Amino acid sequence: MRMFSFTVAATDGAARLGRLETAHGPVETPVFMPVGTAGTVKAMTPEAVASTGARIVLGNTYHLMLRPTAERVARLGGLHRFMGWDGPILTDSGGYQVMSLAKLRTLTEEGVTFQSHIDGSRHLLTPERSMEIQDLLDATITMAFDECPPFPAEKADVAQSMRRSMRWAERSRRAFRERPGYALFGINQGGIHPDLREESAAALKEIGFEGYAVGGLAVGEPFEAMLAALDGTVPHLPADRPRYLMGVGRPEDIVAAVARGIDMFDCVMPTRSGRTGKAFTRRGDLNMRNARHRDDPRPLDEACGCPACRRFSRAYLHHLIHAEEILGAMLLTWHNIQVYQDLMADLRTAIGAGRLSACLDDFHATRALGDL
Ligand code: GUN
Ligand code: ZN
Repeated sequence: MRMFSFTVAATDGAARLGRLETAHGPVETPVFMPVGTAGTVKAMTPEAVASTGARIVLGNTYHLMLRPTAERVARLGGLHRFMGWDGPILTDSGGYQVMSLAKLRTLTEEGVTFQSHIDGSRHLLTPERSMEIQDLLDATITMAFDECPPFPAEKADVAQSMRRSMRWAERSRRAFRERPGYALFGINQGGIHPDLREESAAALKEIGFEGYAVGGLAVGEPFEAMLAALDGTVPHLPADRPRYLMGVGRPEDIVAAVARGIDMFDCVMPTRSGRTGKAFTRRGDLNMRNARHRDDPRPLDEACGCPACRRFSRAYLHHLIHAEEILGAMLLTWHNIQVYQDLMADLRTAIGAGRLSACLDDFHATRALGDL
C-alpha cells in the first residue's frame, strides 16, 4: 500500500510546487479541488471532472451523514465506488456546514447537536463521530472536527472557539483510524488575530498532522484582512507538510494565497456560479444572463479548451441560461472548473520555472484588459 507523503519539488519565494502521494494516486500542488458536496460535483460526470485536469475532489460529512448516510455509503463500497471517482477524495468534517446549514444548533464541549435541514431529524456530531463518518466514507484525506467562528466576532470569543477547536483536533487525532496512504489534516483557527493564529499553529504542530488547513477565512472579512491573516499564519505551519486554505476562493484570492505558500484550495464558486450563469474567464467574470451576449457568435473564452468554448457560442450559452436548460448549467460548470484547473497548472509551471511573479503580473494584466 502506498504511503501518504508530500514532497516539495521547487519553491519560488514562499510559493511551492509539490506532490501529494495518496492511497488513491498522486496530486500535483498547488491544487484546486472541485466541491462534490453530496457525492457529485454538481452537473458534472466524474469523467468530465477528470478531463479538466482535476485529480482530487471534496465531499461533505454533513450532507452525506444525513443523506444517504455514511453507513449506507460504506455498505456500497465507500464514496469512491459510490460516486464513480477513483482519485483522492478530501472530506470536510461537518462542523462548518452545521453552523451554516443546520437548524437548532447547540454547541458544547462534547460537540454539536443539530436538526437536519432536510427532514428536521436530530443528530450529534462530535470529533469521534466525524472521524467515524469520514472513515466509513473512505475519505483519502480526513479533516479534523472544528468550529468556525463568525466574522466579525469579539476576540475573546474567537480565542475560546479556537481553543475548543484545538481540543477537538486532539480528539480527532486520537479517534482517526490510521491507514497507509490516508491522512488527517488539522485546521488552524483564530480569525484575523495573529497571536491566536500562532497559538493555534503551535497547538496543531504539537498534536502532529499530515497536513495543515487554514480555516475561518473567506467568511466576509476584507481581502486585505484575509491576506494579513495568511501572513500571520503560514510561517508558523510546518514547511514540509501541505497547507490548505479552506473555502477559497476567487481566482485573485487563489493566486495571492499561492504566492504566500498555500498548496491546496476548494471553493463552490466555479460550480455554484456556473449554475447561475456566471462564467470565469482569463479576462474577468461574465454574467451570461446579460443581454449583450444575445447575438454574440464568439466563444466564451478563446483561450479555453473546454466543450463550452470549443463548440458553442456566447449567444447559445446565453440562450440556455435564459431557458433554464440543464445543459447551460453543465457547460458553464465545466468551463469554470476548466478555467480554475488551467490557472493552477499555469501557477505550477511558473513556480517550477522560478517565474511566479511574471505569471502573477500576466494574470492581473490579462484581467485588467477586460472582456472586449
Ligand atoms: N470551510 C471553509 N472554512 C472552513 C473552516 O473554518 N472549517 C471547516 N471545517 N471547513 C471550512
Ligand atoms: Zn471554456
